[in-house]
Amino acid sequence: MAERPIATLNKPDAALEMTLRPSLFSEFTGQRKVKERLEIAVAAARQRGEPLDHILLNGPPGLGKTTLAYILARAMNANIKCTSGPTIEKAADLAGLLTNLEPGDVLFIDEIHRLQKAIEEYLYPAMEDFKLDIIIDQGPNARSVRLNLPRFTLIGATTRSGLLSAPLLTRFAMRERLDYYVAEDLQQIVLRSARLLNVEIDAEGAFEIARRSRGTPRIANNLLRRVRDFAQVRHDGRITAQIADQALALLEIDRDGLDEMDKRILEAIIVKFGGGPVGLNSLAVAVGEEPDTIEEVYEPYLIMEGYLKRTPQGRVATERSYEKLGLKSAAAAQPRLF
Ligand SMILES: Nc1ncnc2c1ncn2[C@@H]1O[C@H](COP(=O)(O)OP(=O)(O)OP(=O)(O)O)[C@@H](O)[C@H]1O
Ligand SMILES: [Mg+2]
Repeated sequence: MAERPIATLNKPDAALEMTLRPSLFSEFTGQRKVKERLEIAVAAARQRGEPLDHILLNGPPGLGKTTLAYILARAMNANIKCTSGPTIEKAADLAGLLTNLEPGDVLFIDEIHRLQKAIEEYLYPAMEDFKLDIIIDQGPNARSVRLNLPRFTLIGATTRSGLLSAPLLTRFAMRERLDYYVAEDLQQIVLRSARLLNVEIDAEGAFEIARRSRGTPRIANNLLRRVRDFAQVRHDGRITAQIADQALALLEIDRDGLDEMDKRILEAIIVKFGGGPVGLNSLAVAVGEEPDTIEEVYEPYLIMEGYLKRTPQGRVATERSYEKLGLKSAAAAQPRLF
């Protein structure tokens, strides 16, 4: 499958992500409940001298799943090996990964929902009994051999836990869902990143960026860099609320934090499809974006903010998105009969 185009602002910049990525629980802001549960699991496993149970991290892109996997491995003093669902093409690839693990190692499988079904099945006994059944030889000599694996921890990350099969889901002893961050937490993240990047910013400037970052740390960090560029070129480099506002306006990120594509999606539903319901694929064609990207990146935030509803018939614009675009909905335009 070809690499999907993901919104520019959501695209990870590898080098930046490395420098800004927190490596300890104490540096990881927000997601308090999730963090507390994971910290307890780490402390308990360490007390028992055992590896962590398998953990599934689920949630929209850029909220900290990969970050948490690294934090967990580090807190356990374990090595982490990283791979992702689509890159494991053959059962032998998975066997290679599993048989090279040392006791206590963490195997991180990103985009685990994109693992092929046939390969997924090899994972079941590996996760449950630390055994791997492999077929060696071909034709009449083919036979199945059972290998013992070291006790390891599988950390899976997914933006679409709904696509995971029940047998795989239930083999994760812990399943944690990350939610969009509140602006106050994102503000702390922006302030921390600004410190690391040596950017001068005041609390209000950080809040302005935070509040317009779609609840997503990765977007907050990316916007911080764009606003820094603006402050540097047009002003004296210091970021205030006013400068953040100007810079974000230039980036076409509106006061509610919606970007160009968000608005294009809402506009398509309302103008081209009469407010909906419209199917995902028609919507994707209308706005020129991949259906997957719309579903994983844009929709969850628009739904959470009440701009969009997902119904069995398709996507429907809410009153709030009519207001946003300064349009009247059919319901609102109808004359009231008293
Ligand atoms: N709680 C947090 N505190 C501080 N920074 C964070 C936090 N969560 C995420 N970040 C920042 O956001 C960036 C993106 O996070 P991460 O790569 O972990 O997201 P992800 O959930 O794995 O996304 P994807 O689904 O796209 O793989 C990190 O590099 C880090 O700098
Ligand atoms: Mg990730």
